Amino acid sequence: MFSFLGASKVVISVLGIALLFLQPVSSTDAHKVQSNAPTFTQVYEAVIPTTFENNIPGPFGGRVLGGWLGGNWTNTATGALAGRVVTGFGGELGLVSNVDNKHYPDISLVVQWADDQKFAFLRMHGIGSVESNGTTTFTLYARMETDSSSRQNLVENFLLASIVLPPPTASSPNVSVGVLQLFAKNN
Ligand SMILES: *[C@@H]1O[C@H](CO)[C@@H](O)[C@H](O)[C@H]1NC(C)=O
Ligand SMILES: *[C@@H]1O[C@H](CO)[C@@H](O)[C@H](O)[C@H]1NC(C)=O
Ligand SMILES: *[C@@H]1O[C@H](CO)[C@@H](O)[C@H](O)[C@H]1NC(C)=O
Repeated sequence: MFSFLGASKVVISVLGIALLFLQPVSSTDAHKVQSNAPTFTQVYEAVIPTTFENNIPGPFGGRVLGGWLGGNWTNTATGALAGRVVTGFGGELGLVSNVDNKHYPDISLVVQWADDQKFAFLRMHGIGSVESNGTTTFTLYARMETDSSSRQNLVENFLLASIVLPPPTASSPNVSVGVLQLFAKNN
């Protein structure tokens, strides 16, 4: 009598033979995939005073209105001042979702480098959560555009950023000082 159990046993044993033949190849592939896991090195840290207006309520949640009040970029390897955030350009115009309450940042900013005076444009997107102490932590994909010759390795690389933004204090309710760490992919 035909039974599904019997049929599935046949299928399994056929697949078992097929897997036996494929195994050496597939385990090599798995090994390769593992060794390609990206690793990153921090290249800059920036301290960026940021001003906020009330979010604009809309169909997707609260549209954030954040602007930069300057900020210093430090070279992580040397500890030297690398550049400053140019005020008046870009900002954080992301969303605080009214579905999951996560903060989806949409950041653009312009840096002027201290050594060659060239400008860089950075664009970042990611996700952030408000911690129980009111600090928001973000993880972002970042991209850099600049004609600074010593930074072309960053223009052509995959960058990540991490931002920690404490809540504003009572004395300055519209300003918070964010700390941004920028990482470049090694491999
Ligand atoms: C940036 O560095 C300058 C000194 O070079 C300092 O006066 C200023 O307070 C720093 N700004 C921030 C936001 O840390
Ligand atoms: C708040 O929590 C975050 C994440 O756990 C931590 O990085 C930050 O230092 C804390 N801030 C304060 C003021 O305790
Ligand atoms: C500052 O923040 C408060 C509270 O979030 C808000 O009501 C106000 O419109 C903001 N802007 C200014 C310029 O005070």
